[in-house]
Amino acid sequence: MTMREEVAARAKEVDKIIMPMMPDIIGPQKTIYEVMEYTMSAGGKRIRPLLMWETYKMFGGTSKVIEPFMAAIEMIHTYSLIHDDLPCMDNDDYRRGKKTAHVVYGEAMALLAGDALLNFAFETAAKAFNYTDHLQDAAKAMQILGQKAGVFGMIGGQVVDIEMEGKPLTMELVEFIDRKKTASLIEASMMIGAALAGAGDGEIQMMKRISRKIGMAFQIQDDILDVIGTEEELGKPVGSDAKNNKTTYVSLTGIENAQAEVKRLCEEAKQQLELFIGEDDFIMDLITYLIDRKN
Ligand code: IPE
Ligand code: IPE
Ligand code: MG
Ligand code: MG
Ligand code: MG
Repeated sequence: MTMREEVAARAKEVDKIIMPMMPDIIGPQKTIYEVMEYTMSAGGKRIRPLLMWETYKMFGGTSKVIEPFMAAIEMIHTYSLIHDDLPCMDNDDYRRGKKTAHVVYGEAMALLAGDALLNFAFETAAKAFNYTDHLQDAAKAMQILGQKAGVFGMIGGQVVDIEMEGKPLTMELVEFIDRKKTASLIEASMMIGAALAGAGDGEIQMMKRISRKIGMAFQIQDDILDVIGTEEELGKPVGSDAKNNKTTYVSLTGIENAQAEVKRLCEEAKQQLELFIGEDDFIMDLITYLIDRKN
Protein backbone atom coordinates (compact mmCIF):
# COMPACT_ATOMS: atom_id res chain seq x y z
CA MET A 1 0.00 0.00 0.00
CA THR A 2 1.30 3.47 -0.80
CA MET A 3 1.27 6.06 1.95
CA ARG A 4 -1.57 7.85 0.23
CA GLU A 5 -3.63 4.65 0.16
CA GLU A 6 -2.84 3.97 3.80
CA VAL A 7 -3.91 7.47 4.85
CA ALA A 8 -7.10 7.03 2.79
CA ALA A 9 -7.79 3.69 4.51
CA ARG A 10 -7.28 5.29 7.93
CA ALA A 11 -9.53 8.18 6.91
CA LYS A 12 -12.28 5.61 6.23
CA GLU A 13 -11.84 4.26 9.76
CA VAL A 14 -12.17 7.81 11.05
CA ASP A 15 -15.35 8.25 9.04
CA LYS A 16 -16.87 5.10 10.53
CA ILE A 17 -16.44 6.72 13.93
CA ILE A 18 -17.42 10.31 13.19
CA MET A 19 -20.08 10.22 10.48
CA PRO A 20 -22.70 8.35 12.59
CA MET A 21 -22.52 11.32 14.98
CA MET A 22 -23.97 13.63 12.32
CA PRO A 23 -27.65 14.59 12.67
CA ASP A 24 -30.34 12.76 10.68
CA ILE A 25 -31.67 14.68 7.70
CA ILE A 26 -35.25 15.16 8.91
CA GLY A 27 -37.65 17.88 10.02
CA PRO A 28 -38.55 21.36 8.76
CA GLN A 29 -34.91 22.48 9.10
CA LYS A 30 -33.57 19.48 7.22
CA THR A 31 -31.78 21.63 4.64
CA ILE A 32 -29.18 22.55 7.22
CA TYR A 33 -28.52 18.89 8.03
CA GLU A 34 -28.18 18.26 4.33
CA VAL A 35 -25.56 21.01 3.87
CA MET A 36 -23.66 19.77 6.94
CA GLU A 37 -23.64 16.25 5.52
CA TYR A 38 -22.73 17.47 2.03
CA THR A 39 -19.63 19.29 3.25
CA MET A 40 -18.56 16.73 5.85
CA SER A 41 -18.89 13.74 3.53
CA ALA A 42 -17.26 15.38 0.51
CA GLY A 43 -13.97 13.57 1.14
CA GLY A 44 -11.47 15.44 3.29
CA LYS A 45 -8.20 13.81 4.24
CA ARG A 46 -9.16 13.69 7.95
CA ILE A 47 -5.64 14.70 8.95
CA ARG A 48 -6.76 16.33 12.20
CA PRO A 49 -8.84 13.50 13.69
CA LEU A 50 -6.12 11.08 12.54
CA LEU A 51 -3.40 13.03 14.32
CA MET A 52 -5.62 13.27 17.39
CA TRP A 53 -6.32 9.53 17.41
CA GLU A 54 -2.68 8.57 16.87
CA THR A 55 -1.50 10.92 19.61
CA TYR A 56 -4.13 9.52 21.97
CA LYS A 57 -2.94 5.97 21.29
CA MET A 58 0.69 7.05 21.58
CA PHE A 59 0.01 8.19 25.15
CA GLY A 60 -1.72 4.90 25.95
CA GLY A 61 -5.35 5.96 25.46
CA THR A 62 -7.81 3.12 24.80
CA SER A 63 -11.36 4.38 25.43
CA LYS A 64 -14.16 5.95 23.40
CA VAL A 65 -13.60 9.32 25.07
CA ILE A 66 -11.51 10.39 22.07
CA GLU A 67 -14.29 9.76 19.52
CA PRO A 68 -16.53 12.81 20.15
CA PHE A 69 -13.44 15.02 19.97
CA MET A 70 -12.33 13.43 16.69
CA ALA A 71 -15.73 14.34 15.26
CA ALA A 72 -15.62 17.81 16.78
CA ILE A 73 -12.26 18.79 15.31
CA GLU A 74 -13.32 17.67 11.83
CA MET A 75 -16.60 19.60 12.15
CA ILE A 76 -14.75 22.75 13.16
CA HIS A 77 -12.25 22.31 10.34
CA THR A 78 -15.07 21.74 7.84
CA TYR A 79 -16.93 24.84 9.03
CA SER A 80 -13.71 26.84 8.62
CA LEU A 81 -13.50 25.66 5.00
CA ILE A 82 -17.14 26.55 4.22
CA HIS A 83 -16.60 30.06 5.52
CA ASP A 84 -13.11 30.35 3.96
CA ASP A 85 -14.62 29.67 0.53
CA LEU A 86 -17.44 32.25 0.80
CA PRO A 87 -17.45 35.13 -1.70
CA CYS A 88 -16.59 37.57 1.09
CA MET A 89 -13.53 35.48 2.02
CA ASP A 90 -11.47 33.56 -0.62
CA ASN A 91 -14.39 33.24 -3.05
CA ASP A 92 -13.68 29.71 -4.28
CA ASP A 93 -16.12 27.44 -6.09
CA TYR A 94 -14.66 23.99 -5.48
CA ARG A 95 -13.83 22.13 -2.31
CA ARG A 96 -13.07 18.48 -1.72
CA GLY A 97 -13.82 17.79 -5.37
CA LYS A 98 -17.33 19.21 -5.26
CA LYS A 99 -18.99 22.59 -5.71
CA THR A 100 -18.67 24.63 -2.53
CA ALA A 101 -21.64 24.84 -0.18
CA HIS A 102 -22.52 28.42 -1.14
CA VAL A 103 -22.56 27.53 -4.85
CA VAL A 104 -24.97 24.65 -4.30
CA TYR A 105 -27.12 25.92 -1.44
CA GLY A 106 -26.63 29.70 -1.52
CA GLU A 107 -24.62 31.97 0.73
CA ALA A 108 -27.11 32.14 3.58
CA MET A 109 -27.30 28.35 3.93
CA ALA A 110 -23.51 28.03 3.68
CA LEU A 111 -23.09 30.62 6.41
CA LEU A 112 -25.62 28.82 8.60
CA ALA A 113 -24.07 25.41 7.91
CA GLY A 114 -20.75 26.78 9.13
CA ASP A 115 -22.39 28.15 12.26
CA ALA A 116 -24.21 24.84 12.69
CA LEU A 117 -21.07 22.71 12.45
CA LEU A 118 -19.24 24.95 14.91
CA ASN A 119 -21.98 24.68 17.53
CA PHE A 120 -22.61 21.02 16.89
CA ALA A 121 -18.88 20.39 17.33
CA PHE A 122 -19.05 21.57 20.94
CA GLU A 123 -22.33 19.75 21.58
CA THR A 124 -20.64 16.59 20.29
CA ALA A 125 -17.36 17.09 22.15
CA ALA A 126 -19.28 17.48 25.42
CA LYS A 127 -20.53 13.89 24.98
CA ALA A 128 -16.99 12.77 25.82
CA PHE A 129 -17.90 13.39 29.48
CA ASN A 130 -20.23 10.37 29.24
CA TYR A 131 -17.27 8.09 28.48
CA THR A 132 -14.82 9.02 31.21
CA ASP A 133 -14.36 9.52 34.93
CA HIS A 134 -11.38 11.76 34.27
CA LEU A 135 -13.46 14.90 34.09
CA GLN A 136 -10.48 17.22 34.47
CA ASP A 137 -8.87 15.80 31.33
CA ALA A 138 -12.08 16.19 29.34
CA ALA A 139 -12.48 19.74 30.62
CA LYS A 140 -8.91 20.51 29.58
CA ALA A 141 -9.64 19.13 26.13
CA MET A 142 -12.76 21.32 25.81
CA GLN A 143 -10.74 24.38 26.73
CA ILE A 144 -8.01 23.59 24.19
CA LEU A 145 -10.65 23.09 21.49
CA GLY A 146 -12.31 26.43 22.17
CA GLN A 147 -9.08 28.35 22.44
CA LYS A 148 -7.44 26.92 19.30
CA ALA A 149 -10.57 27.31 17.16
CA GLY A 150 -11.35 30.84 18.27
CA VAL A 151 -9.90 34.33 18.27
CA PHE A 152 -6.69 33.15 19.95
CA GLY A 153 -6.31 30.51 17.23
CA MET A 154 -7.80 29.76 13.82
CA ILE A 155 -10.17 32.73 13.63
CA GLY A 156 -7.39 35.07 14.73
CA GLY A 157 -5.27 33.86 11.82
CA GLN A 158 -8.11 34.18 9.32
CA VAL A 159 -8.66 37.79 10.46
CA VAL A 160 -5.08 38.79 9.67
CA ASP A 161 -5.07 36.71 6.45
CA ILE A 162 -8.10 38.63 5.17
CA GLU A 163 -7.09 42.03 6.48
CA MET A 164 -3.63 41.80 4.88
CA GLU A 165 -4.79 40.81 1.37
CA GLY A 166 -2.94 42.86 -1.22
CA LYS A 167 -0.50 44.24 1.31
CA PRO A 168 3.21 43.49 1.51
CA LEU A 169 3.92 41.34 4.56
CA THR A 170 7.00 40.54 6.57
CA MET A 171 7.99 36.91 7.04
CA GLU A 172 7.13 37.35 10.69
CA LEU A 173 3.53 38.21 9.90
CA VAL A 174 3.18 35.44 7.31
CA GLU A 175 4.37 33.01 9.98
CA PHE A 176 1.87 34.47 12.43
CA ILE A 177 -0.96 33.89 9.93
CA ASP A 178 0.10 30.30 9.20
CA ARG A 179 0.59 29.50 12.86
CA LYS A 180 -2.83 30.81 13.79
CA LYS A 181 -5.08 29.94 10.84
CA THR A 182 -3.74 26.44 10.26
CA ALA A 183 -1.35 25.23 12.95
CA SER A 184 -3.92 26.01 15.66
CA LEU A 185 -6.32 23.19 14.76
CA ILE A 186 -3.42 20.79 14.28
CA GLU A 187 -2.05 21.81 17.67
CA ALA A 188 -5.50 21.27 19.16
CA SER A 189 -5.64 17.79 17.62
CA MET A 190 -2.41 16.54 19.16
CA MET A 191 -2.82 18.40 22.46
CA ILE A 192 -6.34 16.99 22.94
CA GLY A 193 -5.15 13.49 22.04
CA ALA A 194 -2.49 13.78 24.72
CA ALA A 195 -4.77 15.43 27.31
CA LEU A 196 -7.52 12.81 26.99
CA ALA A 197 -4.96 10.02 27.42
CA GLY A 198 -3.98 11.60 30.73
CA ALA A 199 -0.69 13.17 29.63
CA GLY A 200 0.79 15.76 31.99
CA ASP A 201 0.99 19.46 31.21
CA GLY A 202 4.66 19.18 30.23
CA GLU A 203 3.86 16.48 27.70
CA ILE A 204 0.91 18.45 26.33
CA GLN A 205 3.19 21.47 25.84
CA MET A 206 5.69 19.22 24.06
CA MET A 207 2.91 18.07 21.71
CA LYS A 208 2.05 21.72 21.11
CA ARG A 209 5.58 22.51 19.99
CA ILE A 210 5.77 19.47 17.73
CA SER A 211 2.32 19.95 16.20
CA ARG A 212 3.02 23.62 15.55
CA LYS A 213 5.87 22.58 13.27
CA ILE A 214 3.60 20.07 11.54
CA GLY A 215 0.91 22.72 11.14
CA MET A 216 3.29 25.31 9.71
CA ALA A 217 4.66 22.74 7.26
CA PHE A 218 1.11 21.78 6.34
CA GLN A 219 0.12 25.35 5.43
CA ILE A 220 3.34 26.01 3.49
CA GLN A 221 2.69 22.79 1.54
CA ASP A 222 -0.87 24.03 0.94
CA ASP A 223 0.56 27.28 -0.45
CA ILE A 224 3.01 25.33 -2.63
CA LEU A 225 0.22 23.19 -4.04
CA ASP A 226 -1.82 26.32 -4.71
CA VAL A 227 0.95 27.19 -7.21
CA ILE A 228 2.19 23.84 -8.58
CA GLY A 229 -0.77 21.51 -7.89
CA THR A 230 -3.70 20.63 -10.10
CA GLU A 231 -7.38 21.27 -9.40
CA GLU A 232 -8.09 17.65 -10.25
CA GLU A 233 -5.77 16.31 -7.56
CA LEU A 234 -6.48 18.99 -4.97
CA GLY A 235 -10.24 18.99 -5.36
CA LYS A 236 -10.10 22.78 -4.98
CA PRO A 237 -9.02 25.59 -7.30
CA VAL A 238 -5.33 26.36 -7.76
CA GLY A 239 -4.14 29.96 -7.93
CA SER A 240 -6.52 31.03 -5.17
CA ASP A 241 -3.77 32.89 -3.29
CA ALA A 242 -2.59 34.83 -6.36
CA LYS A 243 -6.20 35.65 -7.26
CA ASN A 244 -6.71 37.15 -3.81
CA ASN A 245 -3.31 38.86 -3.71
CA LYS A 246 -2.19 36.91 -0.66
CA THR A 247 1.36 37.14 0.52
CA THR A 248 2.44 33.61 1.46
CA TYR A 249 5.62 31.80 2.43
CA VAL A 250 5.84 30.80 -1.25
CA SER A 251 5.35 34.29 -2.67
CA LEU A 252 8.00 35.61 -0.26
CA THR A 253 10.70 32.97 -0.70
CA GLY A 254 9.88 30.98 -3.84
CA ILE A 255 8.85 27.34 -4.30
CA GLU A 256 12.24 25.76 -3.65
CA ASN A 257 12.88 27.52 -0.35
CA ALA A 258 9.33 26.76 0.72
CA GLN A 259 9.80 23.07 -0.09
CA ALA A 260 13.03 23.03 1.91
CA GLU A 261 11.23 24.65 4.86
CA VAL A 262 8.44 22.05 4.77
CA LYS A 263 11.04 19.30 4.83
CA ARG A 264 12.99 20.92 7.65
CA LEU A 265 9.90 21.45 9.82
CA CYS A 266 8.71 17.87 9.26
CA GLU A 267 12.12 16.39 10.04
CA GLU A 268 12.33 18.41 13.24
CA ALA A 269 8.84 17.37 14.29
CA LYS A 270 9.63 13.71 13.63
CA GLN A 271 12.90 13.90 15.51
CA GLN A 272 11.18 15.34 18.56
CA LEU A 273 8.40 12.77 18.37
CA GLU A 274 10.90 9.93 18.41
CA LEU A 275 11.36 10.62 22.10
CA PHE A 276 7.82 9.36 22.56
CA ILE A 277 7.53 6.47 20.13
CA GLY A 278 9.26 3.84 18.05
CA GLU A 279 10.28 4.77 14.54
CA ASP A 280 7.77 2.59 12.73
CA ASP A 281 4.60 4.06 14.23
CA PHE A 282 1.94 5.21 11.78
CA ILE A 283 2.15 8.79 13.04
CA MET A 284 5.69 9.06 11.60
CA ASP A 285 4.46 7.94 8.18
CA LEU A 286 1.56 10.34 8.45
CA ILE A 287 3.94 13.25 8.94
CA THR A 288 6.09 12.12 6.02
CA TYR A 289 2.95 11.98 3.90
CA LEU A 290 2.27 15.62 4.73
CA ILE A 291 5.51 16.51 2.93
CA ASP A 292 4.87 14.40 -0.13
CA ARG A 293 1.16 14.95 -0.55
CA LYS A 294 -0.30 16.20 -3.81
CA ASN A 295 -3.74 16.90 -2.42
C1 IPE B 1 -7.22 22.76 3.94
O1 IPE B 1 -7.10 21.73 4.86
C2 IPE B 1 -7.14 24.08 4.59
C3 IPE B 1 -5.90 24.32 5.31
C4 IPE B 1 -5.88 24.59 6.57
C5 IPE B 1 -4.63 24.29 4.61
P1 IPE B 1 -6.97 20.22 4.39
O2 IPE B 1 -5.94 20.11 3.32
O3 IPE B 1 -6.77 19.35 5.60
O4 IPE B 1 -8.40 19.95 3.75
P2 IPE B 1 -9.27 18.62 3.67
O5 IPE B 1 -9.89 18.42 5.00
O6 IPE B 1 -8.37 17.48 3.28
O7 IPE B 1 -10.30 18.92 2.62
C1 IPE C 1 -7.28 28.33 5.06
O1 IPE C 1 -6.15 28.66 4.35
C2 IPE C 1 -7.11 28.07 6.46
C3 IPE C 1 -8.42 27.93 7.13
C4 IPE C 1 -8.54 28.23 8.37
C5 IPE C 1 -9.61 27.44 6.43
P1 IPE C 1 -6.40 28.64 2.78
O2 IPE C 1 -7.39 29.66 2.40
O3 IPE C 1 -5.08 28.64 2.11
O4 IPE C 1 -7.04 27.17 2.62
P2 IPE C 1 -7.54 26.58 1.21
O5 IPE C 1 -6.34 26.61 0.30
O6 IPE C 1 -8.66 27.43 0.76
O7 IPE C 1 -7.93 25.18 1.56
MG1 MG D 1 -8.13 31.44 3.15
MG1 MG E 1 -8.97 29.42 0.90
MG1 MG F 1 -4.59 27.48 0.37
